[in-house]
Amino acid sequence: MAKNIVLLPGDGIGPDVVASAVRVLRKVLQDRDVHVEFSHHLLGGIALDQTGSPFPPETQAAVRAADAVLLGAVGGPKWDVGPGHLRPEAGLLALRKALGVYANLRPVKGHPRLVGASPLREDVAAGVDVMIVRELTGGVYFGERERGTDERGERFARDTMYYSEAEIRRVVRRGFEAAQLRRRKLTSVDKANVLDSSRLWREIVEEMKHDYPDVTVEHALVDSCAMQLVTRPRSFDVIVTENLFGDILSDEAAVLTGSIGLLPSASLGDGPGLYEPIHGAAPDIAGKGIANPLGTILSAALMLRYSFGMDDAASHIEEAVHAVIDRGVRTADLVSQGASGTSGNGYVSTTEMTDAVLAQLSQPRANSSAADPATKAAR
Ligand code: IPM
Ligand code: MN
Repeated sequence: MAKNIVLLPGDGIGPDVVASAVRVLRKVLQDRDVHVEFSHHLLGGIALDQTGSPFPPETQAAVRAADAVLLGAVGGPKWDVGPGHLRPEAGLLALRKALGVYANLRPVKGHPRLVGASPLREDVAAGVDVMIVRELTGGVYFGERERGTDERGERFARDTMYYSEAEIRRVVRRGFEAAQLRRRKLTSVDKANVLDSSRLWREIVEEMKHDYPDVTVEHALVDSCAMQLVTRPRSFDVIVTENLFGDILSDEAAVLTGSIGLLPSASLGDGPGLYEPIHGAAPDIAGKGIANPLGTILSAALMLRYSFGMDDAASHIEEAVHAVIDRGVRTADLVSQGASGTSGNGYVSTTEMTDAVLAQLSQPRANSSAADPATKAAR
C-alpha cells in the first residue's frame, strides 16, 4: 500500500524547504519501488489567515490518518500580535498533542568542514555528536495556566509544570533506547535541587536504569548542563530532559555545529511520526529562494528510518548530504557564517542545493564501510 505522507509547509521558508524534501523523498522511494502519496494541508499562520484556526479540523483529520507528517516551519511577525491561542505556535503545540508525539529526537552533529562556522573554538566544537531527547507533550507547555488580576489590582500569570510517572517513563525509555544504539551514555537533565517534578523525574530514571545495565547514566542540573554543553560538548552522548529544558538546551546545542539550517528532528509517539527541521520560519529570507533545505531533507531521512523502517534509504540521503557539503556546495547561511571549504565565494539557491543532493543520490554509492561511520550515529 502507498505511504501516505502529510505535508504541512507552514509559513516563511517552510514551503521552500518542504518542496525540496519532497523531491528527495520521491526519488529515494521511487528508486526502491515504494509508492507514496503526498497531500498538502494548512498549519500555522497560513492556516490562521485562511481558516481562522492555526490547526484547522481538516488538518487534524489528515494528520491522524497519515503514515508520517513532514512540517516546514510556522510563525512570523505578522501573527505576533494575536492572543496566545491564535498564534501559529499554538497550532504546532496542538499538532504535537494531537499526534501524541511525546519524544522529540534532535540529533546535533555537524559536518567536519563546517566546524569553522561555529562560534566556539574549533578544539571545543570539533566532533560534537549529541542526541537530545526532549519530552514534547507535557510539562509547563501543557500544564494548567491562568492569567488574572488580584484583589489589589495587580496582574498575575501562572504556568504549571506537571508530570505524571507514565509521561516521564515513556520518554526516558526512548532516551535509554537511543543511548543503546549509540555510545551508551545517558545524561538525564533536571532541576532536582529545586523542583518536585524534577525530583520525580530523577527517581524514575534511577529506577529504570537497572533495566539498561549496558547504559551509563548520569544526572545533571540544567544550569550546569548548559555550561558543559559549550565547554565540553563531546562528553555528551544522549541527553534526556523535560519539555522546556529540552527546548532551551537544543537551541544552545544547535549552535555548536555552526549550522542550524542543517539540523533535523523527529517527534515520535505511538502513532504517526512528525518530522521537521530545527530552524524556524526565517521571515527575513522567505520568498528569496536561498533557504537551506538540508535540515528538512535530513528530517525526511529520519522519517524513512523511524516511521518506515527504511534504514538504508535514510543512510543514503545522509551520505548524499554529507558528500555535497564535502564538495563545498553552500547555501547562503553557511557562507555568511564563514564555513571553511566553500567553493568560490558564491552560494547556491535552495533549488540548486536540492539539485546537488538529487545528483549525488544518482551516483554509485561508496561502500558502506567507506562512508562516514558517524553519519550513522545520528540515529
Ligand atoms: C521548537 C520551537 C517551539 C517550541 C515553538 C515554536 C512553540 O521553539 O520546536 O523548539 O518551543 O517547542
Ligand atoms: Mn525551540
